[in-house]
Amino acid sequence: MKEWTREERYRELKSADEIRDLYDRIQKSVYRQKYHVQPVTGLSSDPNGFALHEGKWHLCYQWCPWGAVHGLKYWYHVTSPDLMHWQNEGIGLKPDCEYDNKGTHSGSAISVDGKLYFYYTGNHRDENWVRTPYTCAAVLDENGKLQKLPKPLFGPRDDYEEHQRDPKIVWNPDKKKYYIFIGAQTMDKRGTVLIYQSEKLLEGWTFAGELKVPGYEKFGGMWECPYIVNISGADVLIFSPQYTKLPGRAESTNHNVYFIGKMDYDSLTFTPDGGYHYLDYGFDFYAAQGAANVGDPDKAILISWIGLPDNHYPTEEEDWEGSMTLPRELRINNGKLLQTPVPAVEELRDKAITPDGKLYPACEMRVKPGAGDFDLNLFTKENGSGGFRIHYNAATKTAVIDRTGLDKRFNQSVGEVLDMPLENDLKSLRIFIDHCSVEIFANDGEATFTSHVYPTESEFYYTVSDGADVKIWTLKASVTDEFVV
Ligand code: FRU
Repeated sequence: MKEWTREERYRELKSADEIRDLYDRIQKSVYRQKYHVQPVTGLSSDPNGFALHEGKWHLCYQWCPWGAVHGLKYWYHVTSPDLMHWQNEGIGLKPDCEYDNKGTHSGSAISVDGKLYFYYTGNHRDENWVRTPYTCAAVLDENGKLQKLPKPLFGPRDDYEEHQRDPKIVWNPDKKKYYIFIGAQTMDKRGTVLIYQSEKLLEGWTFAGELKVPGYEKFGGMWECPYIVNISGADVLIFSPQYTKLPGRAESTNHNVYFIGKMDYDSLTFTPDGGYHYLDYGFDFYAAQGAANVGDPDKAILISWIGLPDNHYPTEEEDWEGSMTLPRELRINNGKLLQTPVPAVEELRDKAITPDGKLYPACEMRVKPGAGDFDLNLFTKENGSGGFRIHYNAATKTAVIDRTGLDKRFNQSVGEVLDMPLENDLKSLRIFIDHCSVEIFANDGEATFTSHVYPTESEFYYTVSDGADVKIWTLKASVTDEFVV
């Protein structure tokens, strides 16, 4: 693993020429994806500024140009007409002001009256590396470029730790106000959310107070990337608690959870209907963000980072890592959250394959298991050994997913075996494979499991229990992956 100095990680990108060779080299990687948004070079992490604006989807990702390392973060901008076909637009936000001198960190967007507004964290550090996070804004101009406001909207509170970031902008029609939710850490190191309010988008912001989630006053040490949305009348609060281990998550200290409940903007209280749930049970899923303004009160669109902070992936050797998940539709059914890939993914189907035990670098698999226990082993050797093994135990209604059998193992100390518990019997699995990722949707979105996987040439086989019905389609490319900086 390459050791990076602070200077190397925080080097400013002065010209696209500085990373052209890196781009050319990375293009040759067998792990480059075909229908997922991935970093043009270097590292992509959180999705940012995800919104539908005048018929076009905008998405940015946290981007460090130089390699698979968290350093100076830019927003890299991509757009899509349909959430499936993405094109590179170049840098969205660059850390070039005093107040964001060490990074344009995560944030969100909102489209209002023909304008698209972005909210992000300006990560300022002084010469002693002391951090001051600012909440900043930008607006999309007529050339489709993000233009920063000259001044931050507000600075941090000094009665909370320096961890105050990831502004999520929301409009509340009852209060006729905008709110910004900021992920934060209290002085006694508890994770929380700070809420600001204003009647206007770019001015008048005042601190409203700390979000209360009764029963969850002590839940992790920092709540990164908060997101709140109303779906079919229920409020869904999503965030990524960190610095804590949680049941069923092995040794990981980074998670992405949600609550369903009711948000009261008078008392700033989110009252959950029940406990927290994992947004995804997989190894590599973090910092999910939903789009504002999808125009349908019964669904939200969510996208996430396939990766975790402080984890390392085999493409690190090739100087790139991380990508976005497929965008997902979120719905509520009988008080439960359902997550399904956006329907446009079906347009990527190329050839229907007669299932014969072979796997493909970019494919969709639909599996209907027979009754009882069930096994599906992906990326095995030709003789069925090894691989990414899914074992469903019908008595406990739990799928155990084990990646210890892969040739390329990684993040072993975080855990290589995780459970995906279900409420209902396993009826269906819908699986998307794209060169270095697997996304599993169980029972039409009752539970999901996202993981990186780096199969070697000899691992493109699968085995499945007798009696299962398997369908496979190879998928076409939908992400252009051009050198635009
Ligand atoms: C989450 C996060 C955010 C922060 C960003 C920096 O992965 O730590 O809280 O804004 O990444 O890249």
